[in-house]
Amino acid sequence: MQTAQLPATPQGLAAASKVLAQGGLVAFPTETVYGLGADARNDHAVARIFAAKGRPSFNPLIVHVSSISAAKSLVMWTAVATKLATQFWPGPMTLVLPLKPDSGLSPLVTANLPSLAIRVPANPLAQDLLRQFDGPVAAPSANPSGRISPTTARHVIRGLNGQIDAVIDGGNCAVGLESTIIGLGETPTVLRPGGLASDAIEACLGQRLTHHQSSDPLNAPGQMRSHYAPTARLRLNAKSARSGEVLLGFGAVTADMNLSPDGDLVEAAANLFGHLHTLDTATPARIAVSPIPNTGLGLAINDRLQRAAAPRPESDVAR
Ligand code: TXA
Ligand code: MG
Repeated sequence: MQTAQLPATPQGLAAASKVLAQGGLVAFPTETVYGLGADARNDHAVARIFAAKGRPSFNPLIVHVSSISAAKSLVMWTAVATKLATQFWPGPMTLVLPLKPDSGLSPLVTANLPSLAIRVPANPLAQDLLRQFDGPVAAPSANPSGRISPTTARHVIRGLNGQIDAVIDGGNCAVGLESTIIGLGETPTVLRPGGLASDAIEACLGQRLTHHQSSDPLNAPGQMRSHYAPTARLRLNAKSARSGEVLLGFGAVTADMNLSPDGDLVEAAANLFGHLHTLDTATPARIAVSPIPNTGLGLAINDRLQRAAAPRPESDVAR
């Protein structure tokens, strides 16, 4: 299959919307990372997402819609959902709510769970695409399963060329980390830290959030310990590079690449996956990473780094 590279123009968006309507796969930019989109109502199209990514079928997908009212047609809405969605949508926050029985979604999207993860993305190209397509779009991050998420169209092509119908080139993703996933069960729970800092969510709710326990696998089925992995090995909390290492710095350090020389966590989040892709392409044996403060977006950055550094399945060790 030839993967078409579509420009961020009305023609490019029209072509992308047509591919979705025909059951094809289109990677598109969101403010967090590039998503790999398919019509969420089409079993065959959704199955192709799992095949292209090599993603285990028990790992459910996030559905993207253009508005709160479109979300309400798919899930059982609550007052807390209204509070959060009014303040943070469109934006880097995903809500997990009970799926409506008559949602019309392919059961593959939710991996047969009774809940659905849903969000309204802020990137204008994503919004235009969702409005034109006029239906729910299932979209995981547009990377092979277990690898670093893409923040440029080039990253998408590097991972999925020939496996997907098209990618819309919308430049860099502004936030650079996947959305924060909030489970709205009895108590609002952070299922995955992400591009919206949880203190902002707590301020909106006037309530502390529960944090997902990694011992509870059903809550966030995709939160495998080894994930976001570059080919190179990672060593975290490094003061400096040892021999055979390159240093991915943060703050005022001498480094091969720096996430934010000024120590700004928003800038570091936006640069994280791009810098890892760049250093990984240069194929050093090891990447050492400066300590990152564990506050605000630093929580999500450290979550991704820890997964990238985690021991991998045996089959993966040989690169
Ligand atoms: O920013 C993002 O969220 C990006 C962009 C493309 O929107 N998407 C993304 O999707 O990161 P993905 O598939 O890479 O990660 C989705 C995560 C997975 O860990 C999955 O297990 C979890 O969301 N998830 C999906 N549905 C769920 C549900 N019903 N309950 C709990 N977790 C769910
Ligand atoms: Mg992902």
